[in-house]
Amino acid sequence: MWGFFFIKNMNHTHSAFWENLYDIGDIGWDLSGPTKPFVEIFNNLDLLNKKVFVPGCGNGHDVIELAKKGAEVYAVDFVEAPLLNIKTNPDFIENKIHLIHSDIFEVSNNFNNQFDYVFEYTCYCAIDPKYREKYRDLVYRILNKKGKFISLFFPILKPEIDDGPPFGVDLAKTLEMFKDKFNILEINQSINSIPKRAGNEVLVFMSKNG
Ligand SMILES: C[S@@+](CC[C@H](N)C(=O)[O-])C[C@H]1O[C@@H](n2cnc3c(N)ncnc32)[C@H](O)[C@@H]1O
Repeated sequence: MWGFFFIKNMNHTHSAFWENLYDIGDIGWDLSGPTKPFVEIFNNLDLLNKKVFVPGCGNGHDVIELAKKGAEVYAVDFVEAPLLNIKTNPDFIENKIHLIHSDIFEVSNNFNNQFDYVFEYTCYCAIDPKYREKYRDLVYRILNKKGKFISLFFPILKPEIDDGPPFGVDLAKTLEMFKDKFNILEINQSINSIPKRAGNEVLVFMSKNG
């Protein structure tokens, strides 16, 4: 779906799988610029000095955009190459962007209750569906009391059981699972997706429910 080979015998839950894709330049998911539906949100939020976590940030186009808006961005990926690409991006803002080379599930407890926002795009679908509750719990753990989870869930038209990554996102099931710990504030499918992803993604805003 992203146009890369599914490499058998390489476990996508391990960084080596993704490292290889960066090595061979098979990064069909990368849109070479910030996520369009997010840009509108970034423009409408007061992000100055807000702490933002971007899981599985890849080459960090959203990270750069968030930093330009004054946010303090924590960009996390378990592959080093994209983090280095962020660092050498001419728009890199050193005192605004924190590059964290880590598995998202292993970020330190110092991150607990720290973040005003988590912006998610194509990390959730990169993760094996069996770890999705763990992902939800991570987001819950790191957001502060008033924090918001803003996710562009993709691909919602793909069955979850099919081969991945990307793994399909069953929206109803996903919302049900998040509802255990989050309030669903808004679901929006009228968004300016790029043409090849139109109808296959949905923007969801959530807040912690406790
Ligand atoms: C499909 S790419 C998306 C990158 C970026 N969000 C974007 O939209 O361009 C998924 C990214 O998540 C990273 N990733 C996958 N599982 C991860 C994990 N458990 N911890 C940290 N990073 C992870 C991969 O290395 C890859 O950079």
